[in-house]
Amino acid sequence: MISQQRVAGGSGRCAAGGRARGAAPLSAARQRTRTVRVRAGVVVPGDTVLVAGATGGVGQIVTAKLLERGYKVRALTRRAGRARELFGDHPNLTPAEGDCRDPASLAAAVAGVDAVCCCTGTTAFPSKRWQGGNGPRETDLEGTGNLIAAAPRSLKRFVFVTSAGVEREGEFPWIVLNAFGVLTFKRQSELALVQSGIPYTLLRPSRLTDGPYTSYDLNTLLKATSGGKREVVLSPNDDLKGQASRIVVAEAAVQALAAAEAEGRAFAIESVEGAGPGEDAAAWAARFAACAPAAAGARR
Ligand SMILES: NC(=O)c1ccc[n+]([C@@H]2O[C@H](COP(=O)([O-])OP(=O)(O)OC[C@H]3O[C@@H](n4cnc5c(N)ncnc54)[C@H](OP(=O)(O)O)[C@@H]3O)[C@@H](O)[C@H]2O)c1
Repeated sequence: MISQQRVAGGSGRCAAGGRARGAAPLSAARQRTRTVRVRAGVVVPGDTVLVAGATGGVGQIVTAKLLERGYKVRALTRRAGRARELFGDHPNLTPAEGDCRDPASLAAAVAGVDAVCCCTGTTAFPSKRWQGGNGPRETDLEGTGNLIAAAPRSLKRFVFVTSAGVEREGEFPWIVLNAFGVLTFKRQSELALVQSGIPYTLLRPSRLTDGPYTSYDLNTLLKATSGGKREVVLSPNDDLKGQASRIVVAEAAVQALAAAEAEGRAFAIESVEGAGPGEDAAAWAARFAACAPAAAGARR
């Protein structure tokens, strides 16, 4: 499978700021090649980022952080009114009403954007949120597939917040979580993104904490904290199962947009006690780089 080589070819967790245990370091020549190849593609302030699921838990924090840092945000949501409530009339915000199940509603939303951050999702088990035919298949497979298909091929980056367990859906506890297919569908969308040729980053959190925030505005959102759990653990493999703060995952998504080191990579992510990299781009780049995929031929 293409993804086994390109998406998940690592060999261990990454210590904060260090190299993945057992992962072969990239040769100097390979590192130089990699840097030159992707530097031109990183997203910079002033660029336009489409955030899908901008009013949801991770998406609302991604949107707030991007706006604070000078990016233009197109907020794809089924509830444009909610986007205005959350983010006010920020000059760099354009709500784009759309439903990922409806390709026609995505065309205008994606036109001219430089990057996409997909934070859409629904519940793993039947709930009110499935009403109207919006279960995991429709959201995580068809909806995300439509977004990938609609995205301009000139995108600098597509950051996809997916899930831990996508490569372990037959193992406990993931087998339970996957009873209605959420992990299978997310995995299929990961593969569609990889195969699209669009530069991508996959973020795979397990249980999310902190948020969604229902009564926050932009300034309050930016002040939300994850308490003491601000350190991030990344892994190139689908082998984490600890909790992840939505604030830390949102920061990872924003940093991944701008980090050459995160291009074409999958990161399992959790947040643990510690000060963490905060908003320091160099510290994040070091953490992404530390999760080097294993050398060709290495066993997982
Ligand atoms: N919750 C967890 O513990 C957990 C664990 C692992 C991975 N994840 C994944 O992490 C991501 C973020 O999770 P979250 O809990 O922060 O998200 P969330 O609060 O559930 O928000 C999901 C967003 O998706 C949007 N959405 C759903 N269906 C849509 C559609 N058909 N068209 C357009 N937008 C649609 C929702 O918009 P509306 O406001 O219009 O409904 C909402 O903004 C998701 O991919 C989720 O599956 C979550």
